[in-house]
Amino acid sequence: MNATELVKAQAHIWNHIFSFITPMSLRCAIQLGIPDIIHSHGKPMTLSQLTSALPIPHTKNPNCLVHRLMRFLVNSGFFAVQEVVVDTDELREGYVLTNSSKLFLGDNPLSAAPFVLAILDPVINQPWHTVSTWLQSEDPTPFFTTHGMEFWAYSENDPRLGRLFNDSMASDTRLVTIVVIDKCKSVFEGLESLVDLAGGTGTMAKAIADAFPHIECTVVDLPHVVADSQGSNQKGNKLIIIDMVVEEQKNDDHDYKPYETQLFFDMMMMVLCPGREREEKEWAKLFSDAGFSNYKISPFLGVRSLIKVFP
Ligand SMILES: C[S@@+](CC[C@H](N)C(=O)[O-])C[C@H]1O[C@@H](n2cnc3c(N)ncnc32)[C@H](O)[C@@H]1O
Repeated sequence: MNATELVKAQAHIWNHIFSFITPMSLRCAIQLGIPDIIHSHGKPMTLSQLTSALPIPHTKNPNCLVHRLMRFLVNSGFFAVQEVVVDTDELREGYVLTNSSKLFLGDNPLSAAPFVLAILDPVINQPWHTVSTWLQSEDPTPFFTTHGMEFWAYSENDPRLGRLFNDSMASDTRLVTIVVIDKCKSVFEGLESLVDLAGGTGTMAKAIADAFPHIECTVVDLPHVVADSQGSNQKGNKLIIIDMVVEEQKNDDHDYKPYETQLFFDMMMMVLCPGREREEKEWAKLFSDAGFSNYKISPFLGVRSLIKVFP
């Protein structure tokens, strides 16, 4: 390796090992309510205005700390900076939201905040420290190696985590639902009843029932998840799956890396469940092993696809 290659290799390592700092800083901003504070301000918010809206003791030199946190999050694209005229008629820089941080506003039904807080919760985060121990053991998952029980059992026993996880699923499903009902209407045509398997707290089923009142919707999930829901079980003959079909894709957009997102989810499944994300040939085998004759994949939602499976 020459000197340039050496420096590049080191930068590559550093950028990856420090990349955990991005989500942890974002989590801090969400916990402090920074997106909502900037939104309520109604115009670009200067550093001193933001600092005085935050409950940080003066002894901590909040201007300096908040500046460093925000500089980092501006660089990551979660906030942006715009010029604004302040009371003294001077021109200053103020923080504004970006499309990403608009998804963290408390009154946004599509808020991604529950997802961030769930994925970065210490209970879900700690198992990443035991992956190599788990690989050399008989345990089903790193989550089990860390907590001594499976993820779903843990969620049942710890209502705080259960709520956090179910809320994060529901907020994501609200987003998926909008696209499904908008772009995939024809999938629901001719259906009289529908069962949402592993339908969580029923977000998708409720939205389908609202959009297609003639369809009788039922949610099947673990007892503690559906405890507050009502419904009955029905038989059906059409299988619709909304999930990832892992595929390496060419992509020029620097911020949108669907293949990387799919690999993140696959690793997450390995650590939490024991689950996985599948490539098309793996889906095909699963369907034929289960006795289905055919399937059709329609990529529609960024990293996810709608898969129709026929008997
Ligand atoms: C990725 S989440 C799906 C979220 C759901 N679609 C929503 O909109 O909230 C997986 C779901 O599978 C459920 N689940 C796990 N094991 C299950 C089982 N054995 N039977 C039924 N549901 C199960 C979990 O409770 C969880 O709600």
